[in-house]
This record gives sequence, structure tokens and C-alpha cells, in this order.
Amino acid sequence: MNVAYDKIKDRLLEYKKKNIIVPTPKMIKTKEQIEGIRTAGVINTAILDMVGSKIKAGMSTDEINTLVHNFTIEHGAIPAPLNYEGFPKSVCVSVNDAVCHGIPSKREILKNGDIVNVDVTTIYNGYFADASRMYIIGEAKPNAIKLVNVTKECLELALKAIKPWETRLGDIGEIISAHAHKNGYTVVREIGGHGVGLAMHEDPYVAHIGKKGTGMLLVPGMVFTIEPMINEGGRSIFQDSRNGWTIYTMDGKLSAQWEHTIVITEDGCEILTH
Ligand code: MF3
Ligand code: CO
Ligand code: CO
Repeated sequence: MNVAYDKIKDRLLEYKKKNIIVPTPKMIKTKEQIEGIRTAGVINTAILDMVGSKIKAGMSTDEINTLVHNFTIEHGAIPAPLNYEGFPKSVCVSVNDAVCHGIPSKREILKNGDIVNVDVTTIYNGYFADASRMYIIGEAKPNAIKLVNVTKECLELALKAIKPWETRLGDIGEIISAHAHKNGYTVVREIGGHGVGLAMHEDPYVAHIGKKGTGMLLVPGMVFTIEPMINEGGRSIFQDSRNGWTIYTMDGKLSAQWEHTIVITEDGCEILTH
């Protein structure tokens, strides 16, 4: 049934016998599926590029929503967040101490020095791609710029380390948390990366903390996101009780996040949202 899984089934069984957690058939995408997710990724990246060219001080986060929504539709795609479990907008925009799941609003105006995460998930021809970037509005303080850069490094270090049939999900968590902690930051634990491709959120869950040599083995054909949320202060967070979505840092300090959708390949990983 799943030709991609069938090809590696026996090899996976060898690892399973050694008590290593291995992916299920659903987690191994076929060539055709990866091609579909790659195309969704190209549109997703174009959206993030477009946001980068337009985002500026004085703009409301709802204007970003309008830009993302219209661009997505014009390209024959669907913004996955809209109506997802009741989410009311087409993109998540999370400013400063907002960790993630920020709901765009006409009342939230971007100002000089803000750090803004824009998280875009696009459906094209039934396939999903998910990525986010940080945008710095005008001139931010050095501490804010450092947080944004270190968070990006956390994601890049994890991506660089991936080797199929060797790297485990726990390795990704350890690499990210080690780099964050080395810089005096904390890692959000309650929310993580996820399988993606045929739906917005699939198994496995990808934690951004962990221990090397533990967790699921990474093998070719797996498609998932890595999306570290790194806090300048404590790791505690809370959910906005008024909108039921937006997550904030408990101490009001800054949080940053970068996200890519990747596919595990024969010799490492390929970023599908570059
Ligand atoms: N893009 C987010 C993620 O990285 C999920 C968006 S939740 C939604 O998993 F409700 F806004 F869609
Ligand atoms: Co996302
Ligand atoms: Co995601």
C-alpha cells in the first residue's frame, strides 16, 4: 500500500528489535507526496518573502493577515489556520512577549523595535507546508536582535545535525536546548514541532528539549517541522483567556520562534520551506 514504507520496512524492523522507536507507515511519505508538499512549500515561502517586503511600523497585525490571505488565495492555495479548530484568521502573528498563536487584530499596531513572528501554513492541492520567521521592525534593542538570531541558530544547528538512520528525535531537542541554555535563554516545552504534509498537525511530536540517543529514529521520507520557541526570561507561559489562543511569556519578556518544514533524505534533510 505505502511503497515508500514497504522499501524500508525490514530495515526498520531491525531497529525495532533493538527497542528503538521507529516511525509508523503513515509517517513515511511517498515521492509523490513529498513533491506535493514541496510545491506547497514554495508558495508558503513566497508568502513569507512577501510579508518581509511589506511589514513595517504603523501597520496593524490584521493588515498582515489580509496580505497573507489575499496572496494565498491569488496563488490558488488555502490558508490552513483559517477556521482551524476555530482559529479566526489566516495566519498567526505573535509580537514581542507573544510566544505563538497570536491572532491578527486591527488594534495591534507594529512599532519600531518590535520583534514579530509570522507563522504561515499553506494548503496546496491537498498538501500542507508550515513555516515561520521573525521580522524586526525598524531598529530593535541588541537583546531582542540576539534572541532572534540565537533562536534561528537553534533551528539551523538541529537541521545540520540530521543524519538518516542515526539521528533520533531526542538529539534535536538536546541540540536546541543546549544552544538556548548556553546563551542564557529558556525553551518552551508545552508546544513543539510536528509531522506535516497531509494535515497541518500529524505525528510525531517534535520536542525542543531532549536527550541525545532517545526518541524516534529519523529515516528518509519523514516530513515534519522543527519550530523552537525560545524565551529571553523564564520558560513559563500562559494562554490568553480572552481569545483562547495566544500564548504569552509569564514574565512578559521576549520570545522568538523560527520554523521550517523538512523532509529526511538519504544523506541528511531537505528544507521544504526555504
Ligand atoms: N502554524 C502553527 C504551527 O506551527 C499552527 C497554527 S495553529 C492555528 O503548528 F490555529 F493558527 F492554525
Ligand atoms: Co507554523
Ligand atoms: Co508548525
